[in-house]
Amino acid sequence: MFTKDVIKDVYKGEIIGKEIIFFESVSSTNDKAIEIGRQRENPEGIIVIADTQTHGRGRLGRIWISPPGVNLYFTALLRPPALQKEASLFSIAAAVSIASAIRECTGLNAMIKWPNDILINGRKAGGILTEMKADKGRTRLLAVGIGLNVNLSPEMLTENIRPLATSLKMENGKSVDRVELLGKILDNMEKTYKILLNGNKRALINKWLGLNCTIGNLVTVRNHNRIISGIADSINDRGELIIRLSSGKVITVSAGDVTILKNNLTVKGA
Ligand code: BTN
Repeated sequence: MFTKDVIKDVYKGEIIGKEIIFFESVSSTNDKAIEIGRQRENPEGIIVIADTQTHGRGRLGRIWISPPGVNLYFTALLRPPALQKEASLFSIAAAVSIASAIRECTGLNAMIKWPNDILINGRKAGGILTEMKADKGRTRLLAVGIGLNVNLSPEMLTENIRPLATSLKMENGKSVDRVELLGKILDNMEKTYKILLNGNKRALINKWLGLNCTIGNLVTVRNHNRIISGIADSINDRGELIIRLSSGKVITVSAGDVTILKNNLTVKGA
């Protein structure tokens, strides 16, 4: 059952899930979380979750399809003592938490495509939209918004997205318990967040590397009107992607959309 009463007790860590606020419907859990964050003295660890979103937002100004009764849409409020330029690390921590939880709860081979798309068999099942309030180069409040297609069926997707997207149910042929999966993701988020708070960026990046499907491949990165093609070499300590061009020049990219090109086959993923 995905109800207020069940959800409020799904997980309580030292930091993550100190309060879980459930809504049947919101415009966007990120917007609601930021609104709540402004009203609380210490909003760190609050989770805002909804069964459906009327204006779910994705990265790069896209919409996030958010039908009721099937998926997970939630936002974690964090207040790490971090620099603004390090904020991507918290999305990376969330991606590691989600991919690991999917593997643990379903056995599906969830992978992360840079920066933090969750792919299963080459199609996108989840994504992360981190928004922040910053001041003088330091983060003040992070809203880490997570959307995961759990029991979504293909007819709930628009035709243009259908070939690129998937859900856990579409991949393993059976429904997944959203509450159990949420509990596991939050438990993992507590662990990955603490890794960062302890200053152990490399340990987190190594976990990301162990789950990623980007590094080592020939990729194209689109960022606004710029398109770069080259070998995805590594990510640095800020989570930025390092691309090696055929000329040998090395470029660092902090945002964009990656298409993975392998042996001239395109791995799908929005
Ligand atoms: C992406 O484009 O990959 C990021 C998608 C993020 C969607 C989630 S759903 C919960 C939260 N609220 C939003 O409006 N967006 C994020």
